[in-house]
Amino acid sequence: MEKILITGGAGYIGSHTAVALYEAGYQPIIIDDFSNSEKSAVDGLKKITGKETPCYEGDCNDVFLMDKIFTENQLSGVIHFAAFKAVGESTQLPVKYYKNNINSLLVLLETMEKHGVENLVFSSSCTVYGQPDQLPVKESTPRKDAESPYGNTKKICEDILSDQVKSKARLSAIALRYFNPIGAHASSHIGELPIGVPSNLVPFVTQTGAGIRKELTVFGNDYDTPDGTCVRDYIHVMDLAEAHVRAITYLKDKKSPFYDWFNVGTGKGNTVLEVIETFEKVSGKPLTYTVGPRRPGDVVKVWADTEKINHELGWTARFSLEDALRDSWNWQLNLSGNSSS
Ligand SMILES: NC(=O)c1ccc[n+]([C@@H]2O[C@H](COP(=O)([O-])OP(=O)(O)OC[C@H]3O[C@@H](n4cnc5c(N)ncnc54)[C@H](O)[C@@H]3O)[C@@H](O)[C@H]2O)c1
Repeated sequence: MEKILITGGAGYIGSHTAVALYEAGYQPIIIDDFSNSEKSAVDGLKKITGKETPCYEGDCNDVFLMDKIFTENQLSGVIHFAAFKAVGESTQLPVKYYKNNINSLLVLLETMEKHGVENLVFSSSCTVYGQPDQLPVKESTPRKDAESPYGNTKKICEDILSDQVKSKARLSAIALRYFNPIGAHASSHIGELPIGVPSNLVPFVTQTGAGIRKELTVFGNDYDTPDGTCVRDYIHVMDLAEAHVRAITYLKDKKSPFYDWFNVGTGKGNTVLEVIETFEKVSGKPLTYTVGPRRPGDVVKVWADTEKINHELGWTARFSLEDALRDSWNWQLNLSGNSSS
């Protein structure tokens, strides 16, 4: 079995990608420092796959640990998820974000080069587009100035990959620009584990549904959108996981140096109110929400043009918003110690 290192593999998207890698016949190897995840994710992975996934506990900024992992495992590729991702916190603690998100990529690239590992999939974000002038947003759309230090780290990391490839380094890399990942594995053994008060809509919705939060605030209902609330492209995390498998497999046939980037979304936008209504429908739970002021820095509407990834990687999202919210809700029930059935 070909081994793929997944940095941040105990996290939300990494753990689901590990499942998808197994399904495609790869052996995932995890490195995670559990700064934003719990060991229960690795246990959940075992419950789903029946397999013990090798897991190195540590920081992927640690040159010696990274060297050890590459020495102990003949890797055919790497998927680099490890990063801090809280937009709000990044505006308070920019150095923390620049240090972790950028340095971990630099250490990884040097280690890959030293060990002759060429294939890399990098977690980027639609945040690099800011508020696009045209929708749906295509990969050819120029990136805008980042709204936050977090967003800037994604932009800088993309530039680092591009510069490496221009320098003719032995690197074949793909940046996947995720839109809004939601949902959980259908087994409810793994899912999103927000630490503290969630800053993303769906965990807030499910926690409100479960009574953990008193009410939900909708930030602004007077935008130029069908119902006045912000529009996002919500992508099921298992669809997103599958996109990583397609990307790492695609890289096997690419001769280095190679770099390209793809949108990963459904191609469809949904408003905040649509998410709330769909959640109420799938969960049978009415949600209490109030409308608050607009949140500074929020993009009004964004959704992906997915033609490039559909065509070049042969990938299309399979799950609907309903599927994703049902899986998020079942995961929440599992976390809260209940079951919907
Ligand atoms: N979830 C989203 O909405 C979203 C959207 C766009 C892009 N992304 C990007 O996708 C990637 C994964 O996101 P996620 O939602 O799974 O986040 P997550 O926080 O659940 O997962 C990241 C994992 O990386 C680990 N980690 C962080 N720094 C580390 C380090 N230096 N060494 C080892 N482990 C480290 C954390 O403990 C965590 O388990 C991140 O790069 C994030 O920026 C996420």
